[in-house]
Amino acid sequence: MKLLAIETSCDETAVALLEGNEQGDTTSFSVLGNTLISQIDIHREYGGVFPAMAKRAHAQNLVPILASTLEEANEMHEEKQVLDESITKELETLLSREPGLSESFLAFITETRRPQIDAVCVTYGPGLEPALWVGINFAKAISLVWNIPLVAVDHMEGHHMSSLLTPSSERSYTLTKPNTPHITLLVSGGHTELILMKAWREYEKIGETRDDAVGEAFDKVARMMGLPYPGGPEVARLAHKDREDARTNPFTLPRPMIDSPDLDFSFSGLKTAVLYKIKEKETLTDVETEQMARSFEDSAIGVLVKKTEKALNQFGAQSLSVGGGVSANEHLQRTLAEIQDVSVSFPPRELTGDNAVMIGVAGFYKALEGNFATPESIVATGTLSLS
Ligand code: KG4
Ligand code: ZN
Repeated sequence: MKLLAIETSCDETAVALLEGNEQGDTTSFSVLGNTLISQIDIHREYGGVFPAMAKRAHAQNLVPILASTLEEANEMHEEKQVLDESITKELETLLSREPGLSESFLAFITETRRPQIDAVCVTYGPGLEPALWVGINFAKAISLVWNIPLVAVDHMEGHHMSSLLTPSSERSYTLTKPNTPHITLLVSGGHTELILMKAWREYEKIGETRDDAVGEAFDKVARMMGLPYPGGPEVARLAHKDREDARTNPFTLPRPMIDSPDLDFSFSGLKTAVLYKIKEKETLTDVETEQMARSFEDSAIGVLVKKTEKALNQFGAQSLSVGGGVSANEHLQRTLAEIQDVSVSFPPRELTGDNAVMIGVAGFYKALEGNFATPESIVATGTLSLS
């Protein structure tokens, strides 16, 4: 099955074309084309994602990204197409909210032959609704002109699926369905949650953050220390340096909710504790910045690991996977890999952050089940939640 996947939930515009072949419990996925434009440079100035600008950038990026993805997959064939007037009208209405999008889409589509694609998968939540709508309307437009069925994908299921992928050869991955019960820790800029997969694709949320997401806490702490956006990788780099130097750390930070009886998290108190410590000092020296980064990372990751172990024990799970942008954190990876008697998997490095490949993989399994969506039924759902 060949799938076109579209992701616009936050600050990356991504389109991928992949082919999935299922054999028993293992599926092989080949990435035929994949293009991603990150808007980090646009949002850096604001220290975070600015929804109106994200939406505009998605609208400008989608047609060129689709073209380059098809080109890479050898599915781009120039050929004049005559569209029914009614279809042209429908497309114009569908894409009217994004200035310039219907013009550029029509210019592209009337010069391009329909590629061999079996489904169009698109993220419909969670995320920034204005940003999600751009991708959704674009997917509906493609589905309409090329008559390809739509699959609506949950972004968090995408992160979960990417955590189960193993690289097999260049641009190919395999996914073997894990034994259940399986636990997934999803950690990103907007989410921190523990998901129980009771059976294949049967999810139950068993824990989540009550305030900030862990990636958000990394970003905010980085900002307090004057580090560039997104701060997660930068804080991790400085923390690593301090750990290597094995200095005594003068900063003791709290580990909120570490002993609470539930599987929930809280990171806003930790963030505030960092703020107070910085205020006390007025300015941090370079060494103190590294020490603070390390102390923060130790606390944040310490809580994630403790709650994850608790979830594994509570549900008798033998397998664990970790997805989302923060799954790239090496300290988290190293610490979780030490858990005994549990197999732990992380996404391939290039698929830790937002991407369209993971949306295609999640869409593949929905399509296999015949779980297609009508265009009218796909609505951007900012607060969409697995289970
Ligand atoms: O999944 P993602 O790319 O986007 C969202 O859906 O939010 O996650 C982005 C988050 C950001 O907060 C970023 O700072 C964090 O992941 N992040 C990290 C690391 N790499 C990315 N946090 C800690 N350590 C890292 N190495
Ligand atoms: Zn994400």
